[in-house]
Amino acid sequence: MATGDDVVRQTGWVFNNATGDELTLAEFVATGDDEVPAYLEQFGLRGEHTQQQTMVEIGAGIGRMTCAFTREFGTVIACDLDQGFLERCHETVGRFGKPDRLRTLEVADGRTLDLPPNSADLAFSYITFQHCNEDDALELSSEAVRVVRPGGKIALNFRGPAPSDPLVIPAGTAVRSMYRVPGLGDWLSKQRTVTRLAWQASRLHPDQVTGPLAPLLTDIEIWANSKNKLSSHDGTKRAFDGINPHHWWLIATVT
Ligand SMILES: C[S@@+](CC[C@H](N)C(=O)[O-])C[C@H]1O[C@@H](n2cnc3c(N)ncnc32)[C@H](O)[C@@H]1O
Repeated sequence: MATGDDVVRQTGWVFNNATGDELTLAEFVATGDDEVPAYLEQFGLRGEHTQQQTMVEIGAGIGRMTCAFTREFGTVIACDLDQGFLERCHETVGRFGKPDRLRTLEVADGRTLDLPPNSADLAFSYITFQHCNEDDALELSSEAVRVVRPGGKIALNFRGPAPSDPLVIPAGTAVRSMYRVPGLGDWLSKQRTVTRLAWQASRLHPDQVTGPLAPLLTDIEIWANSKNKLSSHDGTKRAFDGINPHHWWLIATVT
């Protein structure tokens, strides 16, 4: 069975796609250890009660950030479409985090969180919604709001629209359909450049996300790199240059 180290070597870093035998799970987790406190601080998500709180991580992968979340929160519910990644997530948190604080949840249909309403204090998602089709990304955003208690927070990351989208998004769709062709699909899924294209599924403008959710939220903030010129209809625009220039975040309180 593949270990977390194997997955890091074969699948590569989530942000710069580096691969190679010298990569380790420890280094991968160290990037999450840097990012988690930075984002929690920047977005005002760290408080005196955080250690008693429950957070939901949507798209946890093999646990790069989950380890740090288990040090910050009393309970972490790591959710992912891929049950294999969740098994690796357990392994990663067992090595580098606090496994007694971890629960995992498979998002079997790609859009529903099998959790009761008002059961979490924070729902967080990073580099995940861009890999879901638009409907699923919007549905998971609304699920994030549903599972967070009134007064709790959502922190959701998206990739915004870009001029290359008319080429990249249909190409990603085409590659994903070719995966289903017997013989070709198996070979294609091992071609790294093509597979990176297949991962590109959606780009969302802040208004597409906040439009349906704004009535359920307050203190809406849209965070982006100062180079990112996206306008937004709802909420306050905030700048943080630690954010990838193509990304933006929705930070808000659930009413
Ligand atoms: C690029 S990885 C990011 C993982 C993690 N957030 C991080 O920053 O290291 C994207 C993750 O989203 C998961 N994912 C993709 N679509 C999903 C969906 N519809 N529901 C839940 N997870 C999904 C993938 O399986 C993968 O683990």
